[in-house]
Amino acid sequence: MNRSMLRLIALILGSTIAGCALAASPGQTIYETHCSACHGSDGKGAFPGVPDFTQKNGVLSLPAAVLLKRIEHGYQAPGAPMAMPARGGDASLTDQQIKLVLGYVRSRFRG
Ligand code: HEC
Repeated sequence: MNRSMLRLIALILGSTIAGCALAASPGQTIYETHCSACHGSDGKGAFPGVPDFTQKNGVLSLPAAVLLKRIEHGYQAPGAPMAMPARGGDASLTDQQIKLVLGYVRSRFRG
């Protein structure tokens, strides 16, 4: 194998790895797996009662600590038609994963 072929292979491998890193951060993977069914991949909410994350001055303008608590323990606003299930409905989701996914949600959708 000659040098330029090696270089080509390195280039392809490199861009594939970079592409994967861009395509799915850990936070995004958790979001797509545990949250997007209700919150939508666009963050606007897939059902009535699910907040639109992209709304200016919407729920994501609440302090991160409040949002973390609501994700960990679940939350239903008074009179709301639907509840946010604790840990998105998966008790095995760790506090660390919840921090990662909230970080993703805030950086991706916050209006
Ligand atoms: C079964 C549907 C469902 C799933 C799954 C779900 N959510 Fe929710 N989520 C809701 C609903 C409904 C609300 C609004 C609750 C309310 O305000 O009464 C909500 C609210 C929220 C809020 C705003 C809290 C607030 O003050 O209203 C955040 C942040 C949030 N969800 C994050 C997540 C994350 C992160 C995941 C994945 C780990 C997730 N949700 C999974 C339905 C869901």
